Amino acid sequence: MSNHLKDIILKIWRQNGPQDSGRFETYKVDEISDEASFLEMLDYLNEQLITEGKEAIVFDHDCREGICGTCSLMINGQAHGPERSTATCQLHMRKFSSGAEIVIEPWRAAAFPIIKDLMVDRSAFDRIIESGGFITSVTGGAPDANLIPIPKPVADSAMDSAACIGCGACVAACPNGAANLFTSAKIAHLNSLPQGQAERYKRAESMIEKMDEFFGSCTNHGECESACPKEISIDVIALANADYRKAKLKNKKFISRI
Ligand code: FES
Repeated sequence: MSNHLKDIILKIWRQNGPQDSGRFETYKVDEISDEASFLEMLDYLNEQLITEGKEAIVFDHDCREGICGTCSLMINGQAHGPERSTATCQLHMRKFSSGAEIVIEPWRAAAFPIIKDLMVDRSAFDRIIESGGFITSVTGGAPDANLIPIPKPVADSAMDSAACIGCGACVAACPNGAANLFTSAKIAHLNSLPQGQAERYKRAESMIEKMDEFFGSCTNHGECESACPKEISIDVIALANADYRKAKLKNKKFISRI
Protein backbone atom coordinates (compact mmCIF):
# COMPACT_ATOMS: atom_id res chain seq x y z
CA MET A 1 0.00 0.00 0.00
CA SER A 2 1.40 3.42 -0.90
CA ASN A 3 2.05 5.73 2.04
CA HIS A 4 2.61 9.20 0.67
CA LEU A 5 3.63 11.97 2.99
CA LYS A 6 2.21 15.41 2.39
CA ASP A 7 2.45 18.91 3.75
CA ILE A 8 -0.76 20.79 4.41
CA ILE A 9 -1.88 24.20 5.61
CA LEU A 10 -4.70 24.37 8.14
CA LYS A 11 -6.91 27.37 8.88
CA ILE A 12 -8.53 26.46 12.18
CA TRP A 13 -11.21 28.30 14.15
CA ARG A 14 -9.96 29.16 17.66
CA GLN A 15 -12.36 30.49 20.26
CA ASN A 16 -11.72 30.67 23.99
CA GLY A 17 -15.34 30.23 25.03
CA PRO A 18 -18.93 31.11 24.20
CA GLN A 19 -18.36 34.83 24.84
CA ASP A 20 -15.16 35.14 22.80
CA SER A 21 -15.61 36.39 19.22
CA GLY A 22 -13.12 33.81 17.82
CA ARG A 23 -10.75 33.95 14.87
CA PHE A 24 -8.99 31.73 12.35
CA GLU A 25 -5.37 30.73 13.01
CA THR A 26 -3.08 29.19 10.41
CA TYR A 27 -0.91 26.12 11.07
CA LYS A 28 1.41 24.03 8.92
CA VAL A 29 1.54 20.27 9.24
CA ASP A 30 4.49 18.60 7.51
CA GLU A 31 4.86 15.06 6.30
CA ILE A 32 1.50 13.72 7.34
CA SER A 33 0.79 10.23 6.03
CA ASP A 34 -1.97 9.50 3.52
CA GLU A 35 -3.01 6.71 5.88
CA ALA A 36 -3.55 9.05 8.84
CA SER A 37 -7.14 9.80 9.73
CA PHE A 38 -8.24 13.43 9.86
CA LEU A 39 -8.39 13.31 13.66
CA GLU A 40 -4.93 11.69 13.86
CA MET A 41 -3.66 14.61 11.81
CA LEU A 42 -5.17 16.97 14.43
CA ASP A 43 -3.58 14.87 17.21
CA TYR A 44 -0.25 15.27 15.44
CA LEU A 45 -0.75 19.03 15.23
CA ASN A 46 -1.71 19.18 18.92
CA GLU A 47 1.46 17.30 19.92
CA GLN A 48 3.40 19.86 17.90
CA LEU A 49 1.62 22.76 19.66
CA ILE A 50 2.13 21.26 23.13
CA THR A 51 5.86 20.76 22.39
CA GLU A 52 6.04 24.44 21.46
CA GLY A 53 4.33 25.38 24.77
CA LYS A 54 1.11 26.44 23.01
CA GLU A 55 -2.47 25.51 23.81
CA ALA A 56 -3.82 22.41 22.05
CA ILE A 57 -6.86 22.74 19.78
CA VAL A 58 -10.04 21.46 21.43
CA PHE A 59 -12.18 19.14 19.29
CA ASP A 60 -14.72 16.40 20.04
CA HIS A 61 -14.11 12.71 19.42
CA ASP A 62 -14.74 9.39 21.13
CA CYS A 63 -15.14 6.09 19.25
CA ARG A 64 -13.27 7.14 16.09
CA GLU A 65 -15.22 4.38 14.31
CA GLY A 66 -18.22 6.30 12.96
CA ILE A 67 -20.49 5.00 15.73
CA CYS A 68 -20.84 7.50 18.58
CA GLY A 69 -21.56 10.73 16.67
CA THR A 70 -19.17 12.78 18.79
CA CYS A 71 -16.83 14.03 16.06
CA SER A 72 -18.15 17.18 14.45
CA LEU A 73 -16.09 19.31 12.11
CA MET A 74 -17.01 21.57 9.25
CA ILE A 75 -14.20 20.89 6.75
CA ASN A 76 -13.89 23.27 3.81
CA GLY A 77 -17.50 24.30 4.37
CA GLN A 78 -18.88 20.74 4.39
CA ALA A 79 -20.15 18.95 7.49
CA HIS A 80 -17.76 16.00 8.03
CA GLY A 81 -15.74 17.00 4.96
CA PRO A 82 -15.60 15.97 1.32
CA GLU A 83 -16.34 12.23 1.50
CA ARG A 84 -20.00 11.22 1.32
CA SER A 85 -21.45 8.99 4.06
CA THR A 86 -18.33 9.40 6.17
CA ALA A 87 -18.01 10.87 9.65
CA THR A 88 -15.00 13.11 10.34
CA CYS A 89 -13.29 10.34 12.32
CA GLN A 90 -13.38 8.03 9.30
CA LEU A 91 -12.04 10.58 6.84
CA HIS A 92 -8.42 10.02 5.78
CA MET A 93 -5.71 12.38 4.63
CA ARG A 94 -5.52 10.62 1.25
CA LYS A 95 -8.61 12.67 0.35
CA PHE A 96 -6.48 15.86 0.36
CA SER A 97 -3.65 16.78 -1.97
CA SER A 98 -0.21 17.87 -0.85
CA GLY A 99 -0.02 21.61 -0.27
CA ALA A 100 -3.79 21.83 0.21
CA GLU A 101 -5.25 24.51 2.47
CA ILE A 102 -7.95 23.03 4.68
CA VAL A 103 -10.41 25.24 6.58
CA ILE A 104 -11.72 23.66 9.79
CA GLU A 105 -14.63 25.14 11.71
CA PRO A 106 -17.04 23.95 14.40
CA TRP A 107 -20.69 23.19 13.65
CA ARG A 108 -22.33 26.59 13.08
CA ALA A 109 -25.87 26.64 14.49
CA ALA A 110 -27.58 28.89 17.02
CA ALA A 111 -28.73 25.81 18.96
CA PHE A 112 -25.13 24.50 19.21
CA PRO A 113 -23.16 27.19 21.12
CA ILE A 114 -19.38 26.91 20.90
CA ILE A 115 -17.76 25.65 24.10
CA LYS A 116 -14.17 26.09 22.92
CA ASP A 117 -12.41 26.04 19.54
CA LEU A 118 -14.07 23.25 17.54
CA MET A 119 -16.22 21.82 20.34
CA VAL A 120 -19.92 22.72 20.48
CA ASP A 121 -22.66 22.05 23.02
CA ARG A 122 -25.15 19.63 21.40
CA SER A 123 -27.24 19.10 24.53
CA ALA A 124 -30.29 20.53 22.70
CA PHE A 125 -30.43 17.07 21.06
CA ASP A 126 -30.59 15.50 24.54
CA ARG A 127 -33.59 17.69 25.38
CA ILE A 128 -35.42 16.29 22.32
CA ILE A 129 -34.59 12.70 23.24
CA GLU A 130 -35.67 13.28 26.86
CA SER A 131 -39.02 14.61 25.65
CA GLY A 132 -40.10 11.34 24.06
CA GLY A 133 -37.31 9.07 22.90
CA PHE A 134 -38.33 6.09 25.01
CA ILE A 135 -40.70 3.13 24.94
CA THR A 136 -42.77 1.51 27.68
CA SER A 137 -41.93 -2.14 28.15
CA VAL A 138 -42.51 -4.72 30.82
CA THR A 139 -39.52 -5.07 33.11
CA GLY A 140 -38.33 -8.41 34.39
CA GLY A 141 -36.62 -11.25 32.55
CA ALA A 142 -35.56 -10.54 28.97
CA PRO A 143 -38.27 -11.77 26.57
CA ASP A 144 -37.37 -14.04 23.66
CA ALA A 145 -36.12 -11.95 20.77
CA ASN A 146 -38.70 -13.42 18.41
CA LEU A 147 -41.69 -13.06 20.75
CA ILE A 148 -42.99 -10.04 18.83
CA PRO A 149 -42.97 -10.79 15.10
CA ILE A 150 -41.82 -7.78 13.07
CA PRO A 151 -42.16 -7.82 9.28
CA LYS A 152 -38.77 -7.61 7.56
CA PRO A 153 -39.47 -4.31 5.70
CA VAL A 154 -40.52 -2.69 9.00
CA ALA A 155 -37.42 -3.98 10.81
CA ASP A 156 -35.21 -2.79 7.93
CA SER A 157 -36.71 0.69 7.87
CA ALA A 158 -36.47 0.98 11.71
CA MET A 159 -32.80 -0.06 11.47
CA ASP A 160 -32.16 2.54 8.75
CA SER A 161 -33.50 5.24 11.08
CA ALA A 162 -31.66 3.81 14.10
CA ALA A 163 -28.40 4.31 12.19
CA CYS A 164 -28.52 8.01 13.19
CA ILE A 165 -25.52 8.68 15.44
CA GLY A 166 -26.77 12.11 16.58
CA CYS A 167 -23.66 13.91 15.37
CA GLY A 168 -25.52 17.09 14.36
CA ALA A 169 -24.15 17.32 10.81
CA CYS A 170 -27.75 17.70 9.59
CA VAL A 171 -28.19 20.83 11.70
CA ALA A 172 -24.81 22.25 10.73
CA ALA A 173 -25.51 21.72 7.01
CA CYS A 174 -29.04 23.16 7.07
CA PRO A 175 -29.32 26.85 6.13
CA ASN A 176 -32.10 27.13 8.73
CA GLY A 177 -30.25 25.24 11.48
CA ALA A 178 -33.15 22.76 11.56
CA ALA A 179 -32.96 19.44 13.41
CA ASN A 180 -35.77 17.73 11.51
CA LEU A 181 -33.62 14.90 10.15
CA PHE A 182 -32.24 13.98 13.59
CA THR A 183 -35.61 14.27 15.37
CA SER A 184 -37.51 12.45 12.62
CA ALA A 185 -34.98 9.61 12.52
CA LYS A 186 -35.51 9.05 16.25
CA ILE A 187 -39.31 9.26 15.87
CA ALA A 188 -39.36 6.96 12.81
CA HIS A 189 -37.12 4.43 14.52
CA LEU A 190 -39.41 3.99 17.53
CA ASN A 191 -42.76 4.73 15.87
CA SER A 192 -42.40 2.04 13.23
CA LEU A 193 -41.78 -0.83 15.67
CA PRO A 194 -44.57 -2.62 17.60
CA GLN A 195 -42.79 -1.82 20.90
CA GLY A 196 -43.06 1.89 20.15
CA GLN A 197 -46.80 2.03 19.49
CA ALA A 198 -47.96 2.83 23.05
CA GLU A 199 -46.38 6.31 22.97
CA ARG A 200 -46.41 6.79 19.19
CA TYR A 201 -48.43 10.00 18.92
CA LYS A 202 -47.40 11.48 22.24
CA ARG A 203 -43.77 10.90 21.23
CA ALA A 204 -44.17 12.62 17.85
CA GLU A 205 -45.87 15.61 19.45
CA SER A 206 -43.41 15.99 22.36
CA MET A 207 -40.24 15.55 20.35
CA ILE A 208 -41.25 17.87 17.51
CA GLU A 209 -42.43 20.59 19.88
CA LYS A 210 -39.23 20.29 21.94
CA MET A 211 -37.21 20.52 18.72
CA ASP A 212 -39.04 23.72 17.78
CA GLU A 213 -37.87 25.34 21.05
CA PHE A 214 -34.23 25.17 19.96
CA PHE A 215 -33.93 24.74 16.21
CA GLY A 216 -34.97 26.43 12.98
CA SER A 217 -37.71 25.17 10.65
CA CYS A 218 -37.32 22.73 7.78
CA THR A 219 -37.93 24.20 4.32
CA ASN A 220 -36.93 21.09 2.33
CA HIS A 221 -33.42 22.10 1.24
CA GLY A 222 -32.25 18.50 1.62
CA GLU A 223 -28.75 19.53 2.75
CA CYS A 224 -29.23 17.39 5.86
CA GLU A 225 -29.58 14.20 3.81
CA SER A 226 -26.41 14.99 1.82
CA ALA A 227 -24.38 15.73 4.96
CA CYS A 228 -25.58 12.73 6.97
CA PRO A 229 -22.73 10.26 7.46
CA LYS A 230 -25.27 7.46 7.87
CA GLU A 231 -27.34 8.30 4.75
CA ILE A 232 -30.59 8.84 6.66
CA SER A 233 -33.25 9.65 4.06
CA ILE A 234 -35.41 12.77 4.35
CA ASP A 235 -38.36 10.37 3.95
CA VAL A 236 -38.26 10.08 7.75
CA ILE A 237 -39.27 13.75 7.96
CA ALA A 238 -42.46 13.00 6.01
CA LEU A 239 -43.19 10.07 8.36
CA ALA A 240 -42.64 12.20 11.48
CA ASN A 241 -44.74 15.05 10.08
CA ALA A 242 -47.59 12.62 9.33
CA ASP A 243 -47.46 11.27 12.91
CA TYR A 244 -47.31 14.81 14.29
CA ARG A 245 -50.45 15.81 12.39
CA LYS A 246 -52.27 12.70 13.63
CA ALA A 247 -50.94 13.39 17.14
CA LYS A 248 -52.60 16.80 17.22
CA LEU A 249 -55.96 15.05 16.78
CA LYS A 250 -55.38 11.88 18.81
CA ASN A 251 -53.63 13.49 21.77
CA LYS A 252 -56.28 16.18 21.99
CA LYS A 253 -58.93 13.47 22.32
CA PHE A 254 -56.78 11.68 24.91
CA ILE A 255 -56.28 14.85 26.94
CA SER A 256 -60.03 15.63 26.91
CA ARG A 257 -60.73 12.19 28.44
CA ILE A 258 -58.55 12.73 31.52
S1 FES B 1 -15.73 9.86 16.97
FE1 FES B 1 -17.45 8.54 17.16
S2 FES B 1 -18.50 8.87 15.25
FE2 FES B 1 -16.66 10.00 15.01
